[in-house]
Amino acid sequence: MTSATFFRPRGDDRRVASRPAARSASRPAAPQPAPEIAVWDRAVRAFHWLLVATVGVALVTGLWAPPSWHDVHLWSGIAAAVLVGCRLVWGLLGPTYARFSSFRPSVSRALAHLDAIRRNREPRHIGHNPLGALMIVALIGAVTVLTVTGLLVLGGVSKEGPLAAFTSFRTGATALTAHAYVAYALAGLVILHVLGALHDGPVMLRAMITGTKPAGTDAITAPEKPARPHPAVRTIAVAVAVAVVGTAVLSAKPVPGIPTAPLDPLYAKECGACHTPHHPSVAPARTWAAIVAGLDDHFGDDASLSAADTRRIADWLAANSAEKFDTAAANLMRTPSDTDPLRITATPGWRRLHADVPDAVFARRTVGGRLACSACHADADSGRFAARQISIPNPSPETKRP
Ligand code: HEC
Ligand code: HEC
Repeated sequence: MTSATFFRPRGDDRRVASRPAARSASRPAAPQPAPEIAVWDRAVRAFHWLLVATVGVALVTGLWAPPSWHDVHLWSGIAAAVLVGCRLVWGLLGPTYARFSSFRPSVSRALAHLDAIRRNREPRHIGHNPLGALMIVALIGAVTVLTVTGLLVLGGVSKEGPLAAFTSFRTGATALTAHAYVAYALAGLVILHVLGALHDGPVMLRAMITGTKPAGTDAITAPEKPARPHPAVRTIAVAVAVAVVGTAVLSAKPVPGIPTAPLDPLYAKECGACHTPHHPSVAPARTWAAIVAGLDDHFGDDASLSAADTRRIADWLAANSAEKFDTAAANLMRTPSDTDPLRITATPGWRRLHADVPDAVFARRTVGGRLACSACHADADSGRFAARQISIPNPSPETKRP
């Protein structure tokens, strides 16, 4: 978002009015357009508008979209991070006004500029004015923090990506809180940035499209610096290669704390006879022990098994209970409900996760109740419960009408 050039286009609109009209040859010649100065090169403009698109998609999908949009959010965030990386390189090796050296941010200068606006004496900066410079640093900083916290969430909560092997659920969950706050802050910055652009009027928007601004003796310019595109492209290529190879190497590391074994066949058969056999990582050992101890009166049903089968299932459940894993499901459902300790669906964690799913959705024939985890979670059997694997079945045609 490099367009934060907060200067007011005083009197500049005469250029727009100076379009020569073909039919009025008899009229006096149109005034010469004021000379233009190249400010935002093509790379800066492309960066700006691509960042608008990627940050826009990432914000909307992160704050409001259902979990099935997870991958769109992830990739738009990665794209924004790559763009910011490219911009950082261009800020060191680009042409005059792309360079960070042409708009050193400073709070005191920004305050002085604000004061000048208040007194209607705002100087005309060709590059970023001091407020704009602060805005660039804040926007780039916010996207950078969102990238780091996003990778921690991906690693710790989703157990995916380059940090999965090193990040606990706890760290990921803390990062998620930070990620959300910084996302709101970024949304606020974007609003301020748009307000600043509106304050500056059409010249600013035009400059971010055509790249030029009206020159003028009153405008504050920066000493000219030539762009060095070849070193810039080489630097970006090396950085991207390092990032891709690094991500591939780190992502291939074994991730501790995730279930990898399939469901025990005896458990799947016996405990899947009446309802989905729940992955053992979704309930604590205490809950499993109590369930197995009371199979002869299992929620009103007789689910009793031979002593040997009961023993085998009890041992397997104890060895694979929520305490043994570090997935989101295991962490969030590890604490049983005080009032209904045998139910997974009564745990505070399960209730919170499904608070937005209406009762009518669970009651759909195509779902089959709260216990039918795999109706909505394609990966329920693996214990992973990835966001991208969530898909709520539509009501079947027969059940649409009461
Ligand atoms: C004869 C049928 C039957 C069998 C076999 C059976 N269950 Fe159940 N199970 C039920 C019923 C009925 C409920 C209560 C469903 C409800 O209230 O919606 C239930 C509920 C549960 C719940 C609570 C789910 C929740 O969060 O509400 C768990 C956990 C559970 N069963 C585990 C097991 C295990 C472990 C086994 C195998 C040892 C097993 N069940 C075998 C019928 C059965
Ligand atoms: C009607 C469909 C439906 C059923 C049935 C269902 N869930 Fe979910 N579940 C969802 C939805 C939707 C979300 C996402 C909530 C959100 O993020 O807003 C979710 C989220 C989750 C999450 C968090 C996943 C994540 O990464 O965000 C876990 C864990 C989970 N469910 C476990 C279970 C278990 C265990 C069962 C069965 C006892 C179950 N769910 C049954 C719809 C369902």
